[in-house]
Amino acid sequence: MQYTRFGRTGLQVSRLCLGTMTFGGQVDEPTARSIMDAAFEGGITFFDTADMYPPSGYPERQGATDEIIGRWLQGRRDDVILASKCFFPTGRRRWEAGNSRHNVIRSLEESLRRLGTDHLDLFQVHSWDPNTPIDETLQVLDDVVRQGKVRYVGCSNVLAYQLARSIGRAEVLGTVRFESVQPRYNMLFREFEREMFPLCAEERIAVIPYNPLAGGFLSGKHRPDGDTAGTRFEQGDQGERYKERYWHDRAFETVETATALAAEAGVSMATLAMQWVLANPVITSPIVGASRPEQLADALAAERTPLDPALKAQLDELTHTYRYGDAPR
Ligand SMILES: NC(=O)c1ccc[n+]([C@@H]2O[C@H](COP(=O)([O-])OP(=O)(O)OC[C@H]3O[C@@H](n4cnc5c(N)ncnc54)[C@H](OP(=O)(O)O)[C@@H]3O)[C@@H](O)[C@H]2O)c1
Repeated sequence: MQYTRFGRTGLQVSRLCLGTMTFGGQVDEPTARSIMDAAFEGGITFFDTADMYPPSGYPERQGATDEIIGRWLQGRRDDVILASKCFFPTGRRRWEAGNSRHNVIRSLEESLRRLGTDHLDLFQVHSWDPNTPIDETLQVLDDVVRQGKVRYVGCSNVLAYQLARSIGRAEVLGTVRFESVQPRYNMLFREFEREMFPLCAEERIAVIPYNPLAGGFLSGKHRPDGDTAGTRFEQGDQGERYKERYWHDRAFETVETATALAAEAGVSMATLAMQWVLANPVITSPIVGASRPEQLADALAAERTPLDPALKAQLDELTHTYRYGDAPR
């Protein structure tokens, strides 16, 4: 497993990050433990969770993901770089959501308790909060870093102008700044290449994308009329959201063409999709998810074998329209 610098910071992270969103929801604890074992044995030492996971768990099951990770981490906390997030509702009260001073502190304290640790290595705001001034969020994040409860801070699901503005405000305020961004990114969703990624390159912000396999769609295992039983695409509201994102004729056609290219290159479609994400120099560590430990083999193979530049150019061309959402080039 290769390591890389986490943006402009001195922190070294593995080039793959393990996503844990399925733990305690789609995936039971023994399976989650075997996924973490397989990741760790494969050299992945960077794990990502969130206060609201599992995403389908609101409110009874929320926090179950952290508890599973916390039990697994016992005796090996220092072997893992641990990232979490706050923003989405984790309680019924109006103030139990968002990036306010109140909710950032509340979410962090509860995450630390569930994870059985005294610090997070990375604490991210899960989304931009239109109802909290960015200065308030930056100031509380600065406080928790100074208290030693958090090492670095980052953000997710923001637009480039929001990130640029927050960096400027951090400079003015003299607070910590977002050292990383966690956007959605894969061959079928390339919009952040246009404005976000040039900003990240210039500011040396770490990019840790989620959905690198489009929730499994880019493994090529789904068919338009196929059975989605047991997969991400039939997980209640989440399944519907993923169908809205990816279950389209154009995406199926793209995957079919890419699968033929993968076969020519002698790799699985999932490996090819992950190689393509890793080949973008702005990418620090894609966050790979799994519902079974064996699935990680494709991502680990991608990390070991760089994508041939000529094949990357072919895939870039095949998927160029996904830089513009549904709009034609
Ligand atoms: N910031 C955010 O808003 C946000 C949003 C989403 C995720 N995340 C983070 O990013 C992590 C990863 O996201 P993701 O799970 O969407 O990533 P992903 O890598 O695109 O999708 C992972 C899913 O794809 C399927 N899969 C994985 N490997 C496969 C293989 N080799 N063959 C066939 N199917 C395979 C599995 O689902 P099935 O077995 O069900 O098909 C697996 O759960 C999450 O766990 C979470 O930590 C963050």
